[in-house]
Amino acid sequence: MGTINKKTSVLKIQNLKKSFGNNAVLNGFSMELFEGENLVIMGKSGSGKSVMIKCLVGLLIPDEGSIEISGKTISELSQKEMNLLRTEIGFLFQGSALYDSMTVRENLEFPLRKSNLNLTEIEKLVNEVLESVGLLNTINLMPEELSGGMKRRIALARAIIMKPKIIIFDEPTTGLDPITAKEILELMKNIQNQYHTSSLIITHDIDCARVISNRMILLIDGINYAEGTFKELSSSTDKKIQAFFK
Ligand SMILES: Nc1ncnc2c1ncn2[C@@H]1O[C@H](COP(=O)(O)OP(=O)(O)OP(=O)(O)O)[C@@H](O)[C@H]1O
Ligand SMILES: [Mg+2]
Repeated sequence: MGTINKKTSVLKIQNLKKSFGNNAVLNGFSMELFEGENLVIMGKSGSGKSVMIKCLVGLLIPDEGSIEISGKTISELSQKEMNLLRTEIGFLFQGSALYDSMTVRENLEFPLRKSNLNLTEIEKLVNEVLESVGLLNTINLMPEELSGGMKRRIALARAIIMKPKIIIFDEPTTGLDPITAKEILELMKNIQNQYHTSSLIITHDIDCARVISNRMILLIDGINYAEGTFKELSSSTDKKIQAFFK
């Protein structure tokens, strides 16, 4: 694992609250992501993991609480500043979310379309990230010609192409067979080492959490119910925490 700088926080959520009608999903959730670490957030299905991510990226407006990315409070940013800040974040959405009508190359070029890079630089980056995920030979294929695992790897390549400081993964291994899931986790580790990124990984896959996390937060009852390393949490005697490790 790369060096983790516990002093520098790249992402900070404080007291986040979000309800839909009388469904209080987040009830004061707080977390901090430090430079260079893989932080896993685990929570049951429906516990609010995706809602939290959507608040982070500005797709949902929180009812209360503050979100800082790279030291900037997002609610205080203009649209322009927010767009600029977004370029520092890579996403791997739940599922792969590749554009079906675009080739692999076009999917990878998509995040670069608003950058100032010239064609040669874009081609170099596309080749570099495809190489990182071991799929250079798929550059001209359509998503429908790829397996589920390959799609996930292309989505991973797309998430890193802007060289983001932070990557957010929503369920990176869900729906994959155990061997392919393991390959994705290996790639994620390589990316952490190669690019020194800080990653926020949302999952309910316990193997994923064990392999990839430097630290974990359990999202239970809308709050950061417990924090610690996999080892610490998995040996907890708290019933709600234990339920995750059975
Ligand atoms: N736009 C919305 N409008 C109303 N309710 C919503 C909306 N988005 C999410 N919810 C509700 O918020 C709760 C949390 O949903 P969320 O998608 O965050 O769960 P999750 O933890 O990501 O689950 P999973 O592991 O299944 O992906 C659910 O009860 C869901 O119905
Ligand atoms: Mg979700």
